[in-house]
Amino acid sequence: MLVPVPNSQYTGMVLLQILVAMVMAQLCESRYVMYLTGQHNIIPEPRLAANITHVALAFMPSSRLNEPITPLEWPLFTTVEAVRNQFAKGTSVMVAIGGWGDTQGFSTAAATDETRRLFANNVKAVVDITGADGVDVDWEYPGGNGEDYGRISNSEKAWEIEAYPKLLAAIRAALGPDKIMSAAVPGLPRDMLAITKNTIPKISKSLDFYNIMTYDLMNRRDSVTKHHTGIQLSLESIDAYLAAGVPVEKMNLGFAFYVKWFRTDPGADCATHPIGCKTLLLEDPVTGDDLGRAGAFSWHDEVPPDLRKSFSKALNEARYDDVGGGTYYSDSEENIWWSWDSEADIKRKISTIVEKKRLGGVFAWGLGEDAPEFSHLKALNSYFETKGGGIFKDEL
Ligand SMILES: *[C@@H]1O[C@H](CO)[C@@H](O)[C@H](O)[C@H]1NC(C)=O
Repeated sequence: MLVPVPNSQYTGMVLLQILVAMVMAQLCESRYVMYLTGQHNIIPEPRLAANITHVALAFMPSSRLNEPITPLEWPLFTTVEAVRNQFAKGTSVMVAIGGWGDTQGFSTAAATDETRRLFANNVKAVVDITGADGVDVDWEYPGGNGEDYGRISNSEKAWEIEAYPKLLAAIRAALGPDKIMSAAVPGLPRDMLAITKNTIPKISKSLDFYNIMTYDLMNRRDSVTKHHTGIQLSLESIDAYLAAGVPVEKMNLGFAFYVKWFRTDPGADCATHPIGCKTLLLEDPVTGDDLGRAGAFSWHDEVPPDLRKSFSKALNEARYDDVGGGTYYSDSEENIWWSWDSEADIKRKISTIVEKKRLGGVFAWGLGEDAPEFSHLKALNSYFETKGGGIFKDEL
């Protein structure tokens, strides 16, 4: 930034002070985004939620926004007003559209100028009618590799790569510059089909920030054990976004308030080499359907009865992998791989990724998933406690 050369020392001092204040104000506004889900619509006491800057209500189905007649009501599990009242003044409340498995509505919307305009006008109507401050677009994922990837090939969706920035631009045009607009984007480079050096400049024009889903980085398409939200894989993700040209201050790192498990191959000797160890076949290789050998549950959920014994061992005998950066447990009796973030892991990720890379903020899926103890939320809160909500404040 260029500072004009002042002609008196006093003006110079004042200018410098204003400049420092401006920079501080900007740098201190780290984003702290929480998804609030219909499955776990639980909000902690106001004290614990005090530093949350954005709440995204998940989800509004994408197909509803392709209807030519704009409805007067929109289906949501709650109201923006009810949510707004439970957070600190000034917290932005957004509507998240789509979610895992909800791709058809986006495909329909993205197809032509006309369908994009229709969808965008309906997004605007959602914001106006619900009183939301903006929207989060959760198309998982433009260009393919979504839930239906076994049935619809990526080549049939290749056109979506060019259409995605256009759809976002149409939504931004309908919303105007003052509403907030973000997108949930894939954590794995293999799923970043529509996130390229060519598309990013266009996408970034529309979005205020990117929620980079640095979780589920091991999923049932994998065949060896990994940390599903580990440091190393998260860093690879952030680096891929940097390489594609996403401005670092627009990036939010994703945190998962849930646990994942995968059945490993009994013959693979995971006891001696737990990481990178062979799993059972986790999905139908033709349809991509779930074979029931992997899953997830939140900190709020009851542990499924058949996993209780193994999970209680996992919690008691958890290990930390210094290389990949993740907490895990490899149950060699029942052949189950467990992967999750402990409270300490959350703090470690803040310092080794969010602060080191100077990201714009963090987000978690999701707030109520951590109820009733909210211990992971508290770990994430610590970032704002110690830093006063600013990543770089110490350096000024
Ligand atoms: C929120 O941030 C302030 C500093 O900006 C800090 O003093 C306070 O403890 C934080 N609250 C929580 C719940 O983290």
